[in-house]
Amino acid sequence: MTVHSIITIDGAAGTGKSSVAQLLAKEIGAGCLDSGAMYRAVAVLAKDFDIEPKDGPALATKVNDIGISFNWDNDPPAVLLGERDVSERIRELDISGIVSSVAKQPEVRAVLMDQQRDIASRHPLLVTEGRDQGSVVFPEAIVRFFLEADLEERTKRRTKQLQESGKDVHPDVIAEDIKNRDRIDTTRSDGPLICPEGAIVINTSHQSLAEVVGEMERVVNEALELK
Ligand code: DC
Repeated sequence: MTVHSIITIDGAAGTGKSSVAQLLAKEIGAGCLDSGAMYRAVAVLAKDFDIEPKDGPALATKVNDIGISFNWDNDPPAVLLGERDVSERIRELDISGIVSSVAKQPEVRAVLMDQQRDIASRHPLLVTEGRDQGSVVFPEAIVRFFLEADLEERTKRRTKQLQESGKDVHPDVIAEDIKNRDRIDTTRSDGPLICPEGAIVINTSHQSLAEVVGEMERVVNEALELK
């Protein structure tokens, strides 16, 4: 029987989850699931098919019709809607603007949660990042991390990330987007952004990526040895 080990990393936008998760996964030889990318893919479906971001049942039906998947041969894994690679499309600002509304819908969360658990069942070792991975989707994770960072630092990181991918963005617009998403993500009734019980909290504001990942790796290796 394959023994599955899951490591969850939750936190708000811009706390460094994606970079940390990818590097940690590489260091420990795990798969890496970006659950936010799945919510973003649903937001692309809402735009493409002109579905109201609040229409959870219609979105969930569309997800089942078209299918969201990952191509694990890419690094990071490519996000597919049906056969179409939407890895770049999901990062655009119009998608960021509606994704929190989409992610608020219980029907959407239920469908994606099943898919996330299915993905985990196919990876013996998985690092998964998002908002509810340690609290709701994988409460059995061997280690749960919760990342925090100051708003100023988070804005700087997001702006740099978008500018590097060729997008012309102003930090004030990004700060507003982050604050707005924080508000929606922390106050929704289904799977809100919370620090999971027993999670290890890391503030990444003044630490390098290597320092954060080094600290996490020590904790994970210890947990894997004890398993
Ligand atoms: O991590 P991100 O910014 O790519 O996430 C996009 C949105 O998806 C974010 O507004 C919150 C939502 N999300 C969620 O509700 N649950 C998750 N597990 C991951 C992301």
